[in-house]
Amino acid sequence: MDARLLIVSNRLPVTVKVEDGHPTVSRSVGGLTTGLQTPHDRSGGLWIGWPGDLEGITPVMRADVDRQLAELRTVPICLTDREVTLFYEQISNAVLWPICHDRIDRLPLHVEGWDVYESVNARFADAVAEHHRPGDVVWVHDYQLLRVPALVRERIPDARIGFFLHVPFPNPEIFFTLPNRHWLVEGMMGADLVGFHTRRYHGHFRAALRRLFSVEADSNGIARWRSRRVKLGVFPISIDAADFASRAAAREVGLKTREYQTSSLRLLVGIDRLDYSKGIPRRLVALKRLFMLHPEWREKVRLIQVAVPTRDRVDAYRRFRREVSSLVGQINGEFATPTWTPIQYIHRSIPSDVLLALYRAADVMLVTPLRDGMNLVAKEFPASRIDDDGVLILSEFAGAADELTDAILVNPYDVDGTAEAIHRALTMEVTERRHRMRRLRHTVQEYDVHRWAESFLGELEGMRNEE
Ligand code: G6P
Repeated sequence: MDARLLIVSNRLPVTVKVEDGHPTVSRSVGGLTTGLQTPHDRSGGLWIGWPGDLEGITPVMRADVDRQLAELRTVPICLTDREVTLFYEQISNAVLWPICHDRIDRLPLHVEGWDVYESVNARFADAVAEHHRPGDVVWVHDYQLLRVPALVRERIPDARIGFFLHVPFPNPEIFFTLPNRHWLVEGMMGADLVGFHTRRYHGHFRAALRRLFSVEADSNGIARWRSRRVKLGVFPISIDAADFASRAAAREVGLKTREYQTSSLRLLVGIDRLDYSKGIPRRLVALKRLFMLHPEWREKVRLIQVAVPTRDRVDAYRRFRREVSSLVGQINGEFATPTWTPIQYIHRSIPSDVLLALYRAADVMLVTPLRDGMNLVAKEFPASRIDDDGVLILSEFAGAADELTDAILVNPYDVDGTAEAIHRALTMEVTERRHRMRRLRHTVQEYDVHRWAESFLGELEGMRNEE
C-alpha cells in the first residue's frame, strides 16, 4: 500500500522511563503494537496517541521526550489529570468497558464526564486534521475513541477512515442502557470501514444500527449512511505466531521451562490482566471444585495465576483486586499442606522470557473469561508450544473460541463443568493432546496479526477503488 497511514489509538505504543535523570522512550511490545508496527513502518506514517502518565518528567526533559517520540514518528496527545480521571478512568473504563463486556452491574451509580470524552476525542481528531495529507489513510482504534471517526469526518470530509473495535460490541439490549447510544454509533459511522473481531459483535452492531436509525446493511455489510457508504466487516485480530515460536525456542526460555516443570506436579497456568472480565474468581472456584470432585488431584496439581495490575485507580478494579486476593487466600488455606500450595498467585507483570516459559511448561492453559473481545493469550499459548503438547481450556465467550475450536471449550459460568474440563485435560491421552495442539498451532500460524492488518487495510483500500 502506498498511502501514508495515520494510526490513532488511545495509548501510543511506547514506554517512557526516566533513568539517572535521562528520559528514554522505547517501543512497547505485544498486542496491537506488533500488528500495526509493520504498516506504520512501511507507510512512513504517524501514530497519534497518549504516551501515558509522564510522571517524573520535568519541563526540561520534556523536549528530549518529544524529540524521541518524533523520531519514532509518534504524535503525543497529553492528557490533564482531569482528562485522565473523566475520559480514561470514568467514561472509557468505568462505563464503556463494563457495557462492552456485559457487566452493567459494575457501572457507577452516577456517571459524569461525557463532555470530557467528547473534548478528548476532538483533540485526537484535531491532531489527525493537523497532520493529514491528501491520500492518507486514517485508522482509529477502540472504545476510548468511538467519536473520533465522525469528528475527523467533520474536519476532513473526504478522508479515508477505518475504525476497529478491539472489545466486543454488546447485545443491543445492553448497549441501549447508555443514554447517548445514538451519538456513539454516529461517531463510529463517521468511518468508511468499521471492523469487529467476530460475526457476533458485527451482528450486534448491525442490529443496533437498525433499531436506532432504521439503517440496514446489505448482504455485503454495506450500509447507506447520510449519502456515504459504510462497510461493516469482521477481522479477527491475531498475534505474530512466528515470532512467538522463535522466541519460545531460545535457550534461556528452555532452561526456565525445565525449572518450572516438576515431576511430581502437573501445572495449570492462567495469565491475565487483573480485570473482572477475565473470569479469575470462577476459575479459582473451579479449581476448588476439582479438588472436591476429584480429590486424587490434591497435591498433584498446581495453578500458577499471573494477574497483571491494570487501571487500579478505577473503583471496580480496586474492589476486584481485593476479591481475587481473598479467594486465593481462602482456597490455599483450605487445601494447602506443609509441602504443597495449590495456587501460586503472582500479582505483577512478568518479563517475556518468564511468560514464554510458563506457556511452554503448562500442562493446561486456562483462558476462561466471562467475556473477551478476542483474547490473545489463547493464541500466544499454542504459538509458543513448539513441542506440540499442552491443552488449552478456552471460554466459549472469548472471541478466540470462534477460531480455536480444537481447544476444550467451556462455559466459565458453569464452574463444575470447568472443573470437569480441567480433569479431562489432565487425563487426555498424549496422541489427542498433540493432534489438537498441532491444529491450534496451524490456525494461529495461518492467519497472523500481519494478515489481520493487511486484510483490514486492503478492504479499506478496495472501497476506494469501487467508487
Ligand atoms: C484492552 C483494550 C485496549 C487497552 C488494553 C490495556 O486490550 O482493548 O484498548 O489499551 O486493554 O488497557 P489500558 O487501559 O492499560 O490501556
